[in-house]
Formats: sequence, C-alpha cells, structure tokens
Amino acid sequence: MRSIAIMNLKGGVGKTTTAVNVSAALAATGLKVCLIDVDPQAHASLHLGVETYNKSDSVYEVLVGKKELRNIRRQVSENLWVVPAHLELALAEMHLAGVPGREMILRDKLASDDVPFDYVLIDCPPSLGVLTLNALTAVDEVFIPLQPQFLPLQGLSAQLQTIELVAKRLNNRLMLSGVVVCMYDDTRLASEVVQDVDSFFQQEQTEPTVWSQAQIFQTKIRRNVRLAEASSQGKPIFDYDPNSNGSEDYRRLTEEIIGQAIGVGG
Ligand SMILES: Nc1ncnc2c1ncn2[C@@H]1O[C@H](COP(=O)(O)OP(=O)(O)OP(=O)(O)O)[C@@H](O)[C@H]1O
Ligand SMILES: [Mg+2]
Repeated sequence: MRSIAIMNLKGGVGKTTTAVNVSAALAATGLKVCLIDVDPQAHASLHLGVETYNKSDSVYEVLVGKKELRNIRRQVSENLWVVPAHLELALAEMHLAGVPGREMILRDKLASDDVPFDYVLIDCPPSLGVLTLNALTAVDEVFIPLQPQFLPLQGLSAQLQTIELVAKRLNNRLMLSGVVVCMYDDTRLASEVVQDVDSFFQQEQTEPTVWSQAQIFQTKIRRNVRLAEASSQGKPIFDYDPNSNGSEDYRRLTEEIIGQAIGVGG
C-alpha cells in the first residue's frame, strides 16, 4: 500500500483538487483507493458528492477514538472510498489537547484497518495543527502541490522544515516524494519558477534528506476552469468533463504517480 498526504500550509494551491482527481484516476485504473479528508472545510468530501450533516459521520469520530475508519468510510464509486470530514473537525484540536500521542491516532487506526487498499491519500488543511500532524504521521509519503508564483522557494522551505520535523519526531518513514505544479499558466514567470524549484531539488539530491528523492512531476496541471466547476458539482473531473485539459492533466499525472519507482511504503 502507498500512503500519501497532500500537504501545503498555504491555502488554495490545489491540494483538494489534486487529492480528489488523482484518487479518482487511480481508482479508474482498477486500484483500490481510500481518500481521507482531514480538512474541516470538507472540500474533498463535497468534491466527491459526500456531505456529512453530523460530526459523528466524519473522521472526527475516528480521531476522538469513538469509531473505526470502516464505520465512517463510504464508497463513492467503483474502487473509491472516502472518509469524510465535517466542519466540527476544527474542534479536534481543542478536544485532543493534552491527550498523549494525539498525533498518532490516525496512524494507529489505519494500521488496524481491515481493507487492503492500494492507495490511501489524505487531503490536509492549510495549517499545521493536530489534523495535519495526524496526516503526516500516518503516511509514508508527502506530495506538495505548488502554484508557480513569485517566491515559491521561500514558501517551500517552510513545508520542508515541517516534513523534516515530523520525520524526526513522529514518523521516520516520512519522505517528500512528489511536487505537483498546479494552476499552471504558460507564462515566463511560471516556467522560471518551475525551473528554480527543479534546480533546487536537483542540488538537494546529494544530501540524504527527507526531500532528496522528491520528484517534480513532468505533468503540470494547467489552469482550467472545468476543474473548479467539477468540484462545485461534486464530481471528479473525469465524470464532469472527460475531454477537458484538467481531465487530461490529472490522468497523465496519475500515470506518472503509478510509475514512480521509489522504494517506500509497504
Ligand atoms: N488547475 C486549476 N485550474 C483552475 N482552478 C483550479 C485549479 N486547481 C484548483 N482550482 C480551483 O482553485 C481553488 C483552490 O483549489 P483547491 O481547493 O484544490 O486548493 P486547496 O489547496 O485544497 O485549498 P485549501 O488550502 O483551502 O484547502 C478551488 O476553487 C479549485 O476549484
Ligand atoms: Mg483543500
């Protein structure tokens, strides 16, 4: 099983869009996929057409130890399951304050889960709290979606430090394995930014760090309004507009992800 957290502490960079559409594309190839939504905004759940009216139907119950993942998980299409979030997940921070080992709850629940998924993806909120820490502690890999804007390297270093810290303290298997360029416009700035990020990771390959094996995926996700429309319709892009650029990009990205030859996970 490969387990991947989609993380960026910055908001609105394409985490949820990537988590949902990659999950759907993986499932379409016949792989069994579970997407866990740990963002109180519940955008990934809604993007897959799942609305939770009560926090007791959400991952909140798993984090407070009342339910198992299998009690919450819902199948949304062939090979694709979602563990939905709920707005009151925001209270988890408060509820878990002072609970020893609160960062490891999701890891333990996942370890005792009974369904053999090929991929578990976790959509993180844009902040570093107990929810993101649970996600990073539960997985082996992190993907960072990145918008090719001014000064992305500064933003990136905060993400890398976070991953490094979690790897040191909570999860020594954790590594950054992918950077996904999202909302790409064919402009000079965007291509310069991608080059900068690319050469940064090339230089970093010599030292053994949690990001030394990171790969910037060749497939860039172009800006495509159909992706935003699909999310508001509660459908993956492949069901909403299979012929869009968004659909093509996420399908190609997913092929790269499947082809990634890295020796992590179990
Ligand atoms: N490639 C794209 N082209 C056009 N719009 C996009 C693209 N990717 C994402 N969007 C839109 O941009 C907005 C932010 O994307 P998304 O929700 O995936 O980001 P996020 O990082 O999950 O945000 P948050 O930090 O709030 O969770 C959404 O409205 C989404 O539909
Ligand atoms: Mg999101």
